[in-house]
Amino acid sequence: MGKFSRRDLGKALGAVSAASLLPRGGAAAAQLLRPTDLSFPKDFRWGCATAAYQIEGAVREDGRGATNWDIFSHTPGKVFNGDTGDVADDSYHRYKEDHQLLKALGVSTYRMSLAWSRIFPEGRGRPNPKGVDHYNRVVDDLLANGIEPYITMFHWDLPAALPGGWQNRDTAQAFADYAGYMAGHLSDRVKHFMTVNELRCFTDLSHLTGQHAPGLKLPPARVNQVRHHGVLAHGLGVQAIRAHAKPGTQVGIADNTTFYVPVIDTPEHIAAAKKATREQNAMFLTAIMEGRYIDEYLHQEAANAPKVQPGDMKVIGSPLDFLAVNIYAPEWVRADDSPRGYATIPHIASSPHMASPWLIVGPEVAYWGIRQVSELWQPKVLYVSENGASADDPVQNGRIDDADRVMYLRNYITSFHRAVAEGYPLKGYFLWSLMDNFEWADGYSKRFGIHYVDFKTQKRTPKLSAAWYKEVIARNQLV
Ligand code: FCB
Repeated sequence: MGKFSRRDLGKALGAVSAASLLPRGGAAAAQLLRPTDLSFPKDFRWGCATAAYQIEGAVREDGRGATNWDIFSHTPGKVFNGDTGDVADDSYHRYKEDHQLLKALGVSTYRMSLAWSRIFPEGRGRPNPKGVDHYNRVVDDLLANGIEPYITMFHWDLPAALPGGWQNRDTAQAFADYAGYMAGHLSDRVKHFMTVNELRCFTDLSHLTGQHAPGLKLPPARVNQVRHHGVLAHGLGVQAIRAHAKPGTQVGIADNTTFYVPVIDTPEHIAAAKKATREQNAMFLTAIMEGRYIDEYLHQEAANAPKVQPGDMKVIGSPLDFLAVNIYAPEWVRADDSPRGYATIPHIASSPHMASPWLIVGPEVAYWGIRQVSELWQPKVLYVSENGASADDPVQNGRIDDADRVMYLRNYITSFHRAVAEGYPLKGYFLWSLMDNFEWADGYSKRFGIHYVDFKTQKRTPKLSAAWYKEVIARNQLV
């Protein structure tokens, strides 16, 4: 990448006479032409994200227990092309090589998840020391390379031995026991833990639409109960991590809050969008941040509302040290005169999207998401725990010039920058993903990496987007 600095730009402008470029109105109006300063605060953290089942492989090694995703991916017709995570990126064996990719990018942080069933092959009970040893080695190697791990305790790979999975309330406690156990082992070196990844996916996609493991289509009351067990697991997890971790350990969640974007920036649409975000996430982030199910949700679900035991909501609302959100597709909304005051606008065929049809492009969601969670709940610290894009990535002469992914990332990060510039407490960004990997029900057909993975040889090749991200990190500024 060329080294064209803003000073060079100034010189170039000088050569053509800056004055001739100014609008009429002189010096005051000249400000209008100043390029926006898209640099980030000095302590802003740049990182990449991955998840255990999507990259590790080695599913039968060193005592790992089977998970819901092992079973699901081996069930014909569930995953595109019959792909499985059996080998994935083989990162269980190649993690050192992967850490060198991170180092070459210059990131200061890496978000990764632990495979619960490597630690407790049966989901609970007797721990497996080989699983703990593995993650000790991974964490040590990251730190030796100057990269700080941010660890997600659960990124969807549920131990298959847990009876009833997330339909069973006991799974929430089993999760907390496991999370506390691992916080006890790692918090001498790991300072940031996230309980679970994307509540909506491992509840709704798994138990309502059936697209994800275990592939169920349950009636509304039972789905609401699964959702309740999900937020309860998070809350119990927060408490268990705090009880076992070294003082100063920071605990949060990585949630894929559905964010509603006002199509027109006027007070009525802005207020409608914020209301929509709060109400449409009532069973997830709103419950966590407010420690209760709001009336609109209880009223709407009526007899299908979840069964809550005394004390649950206090646990669910356990205070967090930080909030992290995965931000991809926007939802559009407008104010209207219906009783709730807003109407959501569906995505249609002409809505622009990346290689995954669900990944509608709408960079404004990055700004509005950060602003809305800040205004609604005043989190002390915010992170973007995931943002990225799938692209077709044709290999040409050994190169992958993914200009479309760079376009997507540049637009989204510009929008995050606006949130930082306006003073919202966004402290870091994790790009999904370091490398192509097992994209759940899409198997290996959707590539999200900034490193290309040849799944036959396991060769990793930086795409153009990796070169671009490296430059952004080096300058701490959008390029
Ligand atoms: C998110 C998931 C992550 C990955 C990206 C593309 O929903 O958390 O594992 O699949 O989408």
